[in-house]
Amino acid sequence: MRIVVIGSGYVGLVSATCFAEMGHHVVCVDRDAERIARLRDGEVPIHEPGLEPLLLRNHQQGRLHFAQTLRPVLTNIDLCFIAVGTPSAPDGSADTSQVLAVAEELGRWLPQRCVVVNKSTAPVGTAERIERTIARGLTQREAGFTVPVVSNPEFLREGCAVEDFMRPDRVIIGCADDQARQTMEALYAPFLRKQPRLMVMGRREAEMSKYAANAMLATRISFMNEMASLCEQLGVDIEKVRLGVGSDSRIGYDFLYAGCGYGGSCFPKDVRALIHTAQRHGLPSHILQAVEERNTIQKAGLFVKLQQQLGALDGRTIAVWGLAFKPGTDDVREAPALQLIASLLEAGAVVQAHDPVATASVLRCVPAHWLTSGQLVLHAQDPYAVLDDADALVIPTEWKPFRQPDWQRVRGLLRQPVVIDGRNLYDPAQMQALGFHYSSFGRPS
Ligand code: UGA
Repeated sequence: MRIVVIGSGYVGLVSATCFAEMGHHVVCVDRDAERIARLRDGEVPIHEPGLEPLLLRNHQQGRLHFAQTLRPVLTNIDLCFIAVGTPSAPDGSADTSQVLAVAEELGRWLPQRCVVVNKSTAPVGTAERIERTIARGLTQREAGFTVPVVSNPEFLREGCAVEDFMRPDRVIIGCADDQARQTMEALYAPFLRKQPRLMVMGRREAEMSKYAANAMLATRISFMNEMASLCEQLGVDIEKVRLGVGSDSRIGYDFLYAGCGYGGSCFPKDVRALIHTAQRHGLPSHILQAVEERNTIQKAGLFVKLQQQLGALDGRTIAVWGLAFKPGTDDVREAPALQLIASLLEAGAVVQAHDPVATASVLRCVPAHWLTSGQLVLHAQDPYAVLDDADALVIPTEWKPFRQPDWQRVRGLLRQPVVIDGRNLYDPAQMQALGFHYSSFGRPS
């Protein structure tokens, strides 16, 4: 098939690459000229395991192309995916202006019928709005054909996006057109050979499934974080409780890890958007409000635990291991580490931070004076370099190289043996035996 994918973010780039890998002719379009130029030069703008070799190979073999303008690439296509951002608006709702702007363009330029597929996470009713917007454009220029719009929410996780896309545990197609459904079934058949779980439903149901899935996962995390707080008060170990709870086959082990809260470009935004949708329909969202509030408290937890160990933080030097919102990605959006750093700098501390891949992303998004003032120092290479003369080590992200550090070396470099573990990576008894003042989440210290 001939496919256009609009948007070269995580979802767009991974989808475009994986469709090309299955033999389709794919053009990935982004209005960001610099990003497209870099992609054409073989430079992959995001850190995503396995993406680079796949993308380069498909690009070199002529199945994957990159373009900055939409109109020229729309001729003779079968499918057009929309994978642009739907960021949080100031009121918490999902800002769908980029999606609708794309729909306007498609209405203006599409030269023939094709199936338009929305992959951007967008509120219930968006696929219908896209379809109406395109139809308006087609009518104005008396195009003489119609364009069906499908909702196909994406469930990939950053850090294992290629794997998730190539072997999805399910594909959801929200569809109101029979021919479009057949096209989507044919497209996804090779991805579902092992697990043939393609679900066809209404477009509104597909859109709602995406929000409900993310909200459910965020709820599990916030619930466990609340249990962890209680465990701390009761002298109970949340890690043992997690095993006890997860072993119930109705519950399962996934997404039960307590810690310094969830971040990323999806959970915080999608929970807020769903709360907004509920409120707009006159339904206060008791559970989701609580999920969000618990996460706000949780993200502040690293700072609070540091204060408990060190007292006033003014003039202190704090080492941080891990800046990405989770391992395996260079994405720092809504990362607990960034919130911690902002609080520390405001309190007058100096931060020396290391991340194996995300320091460049931090450089791009933090205020320049954090760096020019010397209050924030970043090291991309050596985790031990940030420990020099620090009063404490904080670990907000569970990158693998942090799992078994050389504790003697850590102990020798730190000014004070304080370790705050945002992801419950270490054994509290062992840390105590090594002479550390150690705090984690939901475990007796
Ligand atoms: C999430 C969903 O897992 C994907 O299915 C979905 O497609 C994606 O959002 C999206 O909407 O695009 P992602 O944001 O990449 O994926 O990351 P997750 O692996 O879900 O982790 C989210 C956050 O929750 C991270 O900060 C992680 O550290 C935290 N987390 C996760 C916990 O605190 N505890 C857990 O048990 C699991």
